[in-house]
Amino acid sequence: MSQTALQASAYLHHLHFQSPNPKRLAEFYESAMNTRIQHLDDGSWLASGPERRLLFSEGPAKRLAHAGFAVRDAEALAGLCQRAKEMELSPRDVDAPLFQKGAFSVIDPDGNAIYFGLAVTPASTFLAASERLSAIRGPLQHLTLASRDVQAIEEFYAGKLGFGVSDRVVSPEGKVMTCFMRGNHEHHNLACFFQDRTGVDHHSYEAGEWDTIRDWSDHFASHDIQLMWGPGRHGPGNNLFIFIVDPDGNWIEISAELEVVHDRPVKTWPHEERTLNLWGHGILRAQA
Ligand SMILES: [Fe+2]
Repeated sequence: MSQTALQASAYLHHLHFQSPNPKRLAEFYESAMNTRIQHLDDGSWLASGPERRLLFSEGPAKRLAHAGFAVRDAEALAGLCQRAKEMELSPRDVDAPLFQKGAFSVIDPDGNAIYFGLAVTPASTFLAASERLSAIRGPLQHLTLASRDVQAIEEFYAGKLGFGVSDRVVSPEGKVMTCFMRGNHEHHNLACFFQDRTGVDHHSYEAGEWDTIRDWSDHFASHDIQLMWGPGRHGPGNNLFIFIVDPDGNWIEISAELEVVHDRPVKTWPHEERTLNLWGHGILRAQA
């Protein structure tokens, strides 16, 4: 039976970025993001830590090779694939190193490849138990796309795949500037910002609590990594945040206290230009 992404409990499991220097990028994620790295047989690099996994392979900087969303179980995966077929999204079988056999891909209106599958993490990629305990909490949590047509992205992910819409940011002329979508109860694990380009705006790790953002900040300081934005609090999702940037220019967010959505109407927010945050002054940025 057909299932929506929301019914299938889709969550962001891993990201695969291209890079002119994937080894250097992997080494950055090893130190900055508390992961272990491995050079895989196909030439790509895997950075894995507790509940965070990224792949890097040769290509242009900041190019998303694919985003991998895992779903609850085999029935959910089959149901979501069925829905993709019914919606004429032409799902294709794919081999993904971090998913079990049976994963499928779809391509969104901007050409982004999205994989859905069942999670598998080979034992060899786990951190040792002692390392897991010392690693700072931060499961990979959301991907935010950049697009010239946010409405088309919403129609694809929410209208066709069945992600839930939590919030929209709308311009005074009624144009959707940002859409926040969810595959489970997290306010968003997929979002899209209006920009005059396509690709990725940023990806985010959910630290859970403010104290853990402090720990990440101390960790970044110890590696001479500057915070590029924050700390602050977003409007939609109400989450606390800091941002850093990797050597390729990919923006990385550490978030905490992201809203949990059970059942409520979609909220509409007015569009505001991005502003520097003023910690303690409420809403700092309409989009996040
Ligand atoms: Fe974000």
